[in-house]
Amino acid sequence: MADAVTSRTLEEMVAYYGARAREYDDWWYRRGRYDRNPEDTAQWHAEVNELYAVFDALSLGGDVLELAPGTGTWTRRLVRTARSVTTVDASPEMVELNRANICDARVTYVIADLFAWEPERVYDAVCFGFWLSHVPVERLDRFLATVARALRQGGLLFFADSLSEATALHDNHRVPGASAQIMARTLANGRTYQIVKNYHDAASLSARFLRAGLDVAVHQTATYFQYGVGVRIPHVE
Ligand SMILES: C[S@@+](CC[C@H](N)C(=O)[O-])C[C@H]1O[C@@H](n2cnc3c(N)ncnc32)[C@H](O)[C@@H]1O
Repeated sequence: MADAVTSRTLEEMVAYYGARAREYDDWWYRRGRYDRNPEDTAQWHAEVNELYAVFDALSLGGDVLELAPGTGTWTRRLVRTARSVTTVDASPEMVELNRANICDARVTYVIADLFAWEPERVYDAVCFGFWLSHVPVERLDRFLATVARALRQGGLLFFADSLSEATALHDNHRVPGASAQIMARTLANGRTYQIVKNYHDAASLSARFLRAGLDVAVHQTATYFQYGVGVRIPHVE
């Protein structure tokens, strides 16, 4: 098993996303150094559209919780179907960008560390994009238990994340080895940060969700993404 991640690395990951906030969308939209060649970029966009189709078909309604929303890739779609969206992210810079991008009074922004945050209520649905891979393996069960506590029985869950694929990154980044959970990330200005990045196989991830009381089917697109759709298992009296 990989070494436990220090709180210093978790703080560095928040600092990294704060510093990266204004260039973050270049990764998702494959701009600049992420546009490695036309074939990979076209494949990426095709698989993004697959994720969007799955997400949109869920039509997450009611009061929705979004964890680590970043610049608002999923918030933008959530406000089409939800009554309210509560977001929790540790980076003020990301929150500021999300607020400016989404501009919707039904979105509440909580700035908090997800490794310390506790839900104050239950939600109808929960979603997290490209967050699960940043949870240290030794904290995964605790994180999933928090997610389960935040979700009403029968409430829906969606997550999306990265598969281990070198062309998803720009060419200065290296996918970590199977037993490592720390990855060096470099910003456009050359500054390097240590962050957590874990890739999970679908079966073991489903089993971890199940242990937390979440029935989540984990799928993948051809090259780039893993995603899951599920439900908090209702208690049977
Ligand atoms: C890879 S981005 C995901 C953004 C967005 N969900 C998406 O799909 O593009 C990871 C997000 O996690 C946030 N984050 C990093 N560490 C955190 C922590 N300890 N608690 C809460 N949010 C954190 C970052 O600020 C960033 O917005």
